[in-house]
Amino acid sequence: MCGIIGIASNKLVASNIIQSLKKLEYRGYDSAGIATIVNGEINEKKCAGRVENLEKMLFKNPSNGSLGIGHVRWATHGIPSKVNAHPHSSDEVSVVHNGIIENSNELKKDLEKKGYKFKSQTDTEVITNLLTDFLKDFDLVDAINKTLKTLNGSFALGIIFKKFNNIVVGARRGSPLAVGYGPEENYLGSDSYALKSMTNKITYLDDGDVCVLTNNKIDFYNSKNKKINKEILILSDDKNIAEKGEYKDFMSKEINEQNVTAKTCIKEYLDQLRKNINIYNFPINPKDIQKIVLIGCGTAYHSCITAKYWFEELTNIPIEIDIASEFRYRKIKLNKKNLYVFVSQSGETADTFAALDLCKKNKVKTCSIVNVVESSIARSSDFVLPIHAGPEIGVASTKAFIGQMLVLYILAIKISEVRKEISQSDYEKKINDLKKLPDLIKKTLNYCQDNTPIIAKDFLKAKGAMFLGRGLSFPIALEGALKLKELSYLHAEGYPAGEMKHGPLALIEEGLPVVILAPKDRYFEKTISNMQEVIARGGKVILITNESNNIISENIRFTLEIPKIDDYLTPFLMTVPLQLLAYNVASLKNCDIDKPRNLAKSVTVE
Ligand code: G6P
Repeated sequence: MCGIIGIASNKLVASNIIQSLKKLEYRGYDSAGIATIVNGEINEKKCAGRVENLEKMLFKNPSNGSLGIGHVRWATHGIPSKVNAHPHSSDEVSVVHNGIIENSNELKKDLEKKGYKFKSQTDTEVITNLLTDFLKDFDLVDAINKTLKTLNGSFALGIIFKKFNNIVVGARRGSPLAVGYGPEENYLGSDSYALKSMTNKITYLDDGDVCVLTNNKIDFYNSKNKKINKEILILSDDKNIAEKGEYKDFMSKEINEQNVTAKTCIKEYLDQLRKNINIYNFPINPKDIQKIVLIGCGTAYHSCITAKYWFEELTNIPIEIDIASEFRYRKIKLNKKNLYVFVSQSGETADTFAALDLCKKNKVKTCSIVNVVESSIARSSDFVLPIHAGPEIGVASTKAFIGQMLVLYILAIKISEVRKEISQSDYEKKINDLKKLPDLIKKTLNYCQDNTPIIAKDFLKAKGAMFLGRGLSFPIALEGALKLKELSYLHAEGYPAGEMKHGPLALIEEGLPVVILAPKDRYFEKTISNMQEVIARGGKVILITNESNNIISENIRFTLEIPKIDDYLTPFLMTVPLQLLAYNVASLKNCDIDKPRNLAKSVTVE
């Protein structure tokens, strides 16, 4: 994780560095720092906590200088603290780092023998000392190359130098890095989003690339130290730049705009006449697909589980789902007749990217479903299906989940149609039902606004909570539990309702909140029976259904009745009350909604 920014200019850079760091806080927010060159010396300022603390610090004691680097941290080595915050500087160099240096312990010992003293517990400080050491005997280019060659692991680096005080150097291995071209200044950043307010001209570094920025020039070198030219991309004029608007936080905005997210996504994938789905040029003919493997992390993984049910219902293709951090290390028999689908909001998650990389190296067909179309995962896969959700800033994913599920569902219908496994009339019906979804999401949002804050109060004194569902409601139960954990720090478990009797039923005790997802589908009666088992043991049931008639409800604490829709689309509506419930519990507990403790939005470390 962590976010990097660098600017080479002929104007003061601190304020732009701070503004960009604020945009990068989704990558980490436990400490922040900046280093600029002032009167020929490296001037470093850092602090624990948010960028606003750093900003306050600079307000009292400004950082001058027309060249500098900045960093937001998500701790890996060493606690979040001022001393572990980046940059890490010697008299000669100052370094910001995203990633993990795997051989840092060995390197540290060698450097200590040479007399280098370490101030922090970070792996990054070895880079500072290594480079400082090489600069004693080698010129700049050789010192950088020797340093990079000595490092194992993944990194994106931003470096400034006392002696070469008009350049910012960037290097990428495994962690994303981009440069931007501005008027009489150039930029380095972890992503284009951080640079977007300064420029729309961007180049992405590839693995092994090094870049050298001055205020009027950017040079690129590949891993063989050969000067290379790289493509400049013009970013689209994104009117949807994330602003909170009238909302208290990004998460409430993102939850409340999910009807729009769904509408935009559906519009992108349904053709003008709304009778067909616009997905062509598959990397593999759908008729030849032997198996589909769906891979993701966190919320994205939950969208994969949901899709497994859809694909199995709509096609005859065997489906596997995998958590990226497991997939990447297993001895998996990759097959050229399979399609490997990678789901990621950010498109930068290190584990998902590594799993994709494994597939690429084995030359199997890959497809990615992402929100950020300029991301590493999108750029590396054979085929990209964007979710068109617009920037998602809240760390806990909400509207991207709706977008991921939508694209996966649309993909399942399309593949089924191409393989002629769905009748034409059913295909058209599914498309028609899809068109109703945005309005029903809106209706569900309106309905849940007033009742979820009341239900949330019941969770305040609870030791934990359970979320139960069967079929398509099972992954939504997992997602509901994840949202509650992430946002409110309350222990929560999601379970297939039928699995309760094999252990988790032992957790049910008087007053434990248990959310039961029971839409009127083919599992309905069975889920209701499981609910009765929970009630019989004192669980405080919150029932979410679209069919409350005929349910003996005297022992149910709350019932939420969401609109009726085609069974396949129920997961979209079921998701909404769970997001709002987690949001409201967290609000009542005064948790930081957009930036939950210990987490980050884009997880670019293993
Ligand atoms: C982090 C975020 C989650 C997200 C997961 C996968 O853990 O906090 O909200 O689901 O990463 O992220 P991705 O960008 O790959 O969807």
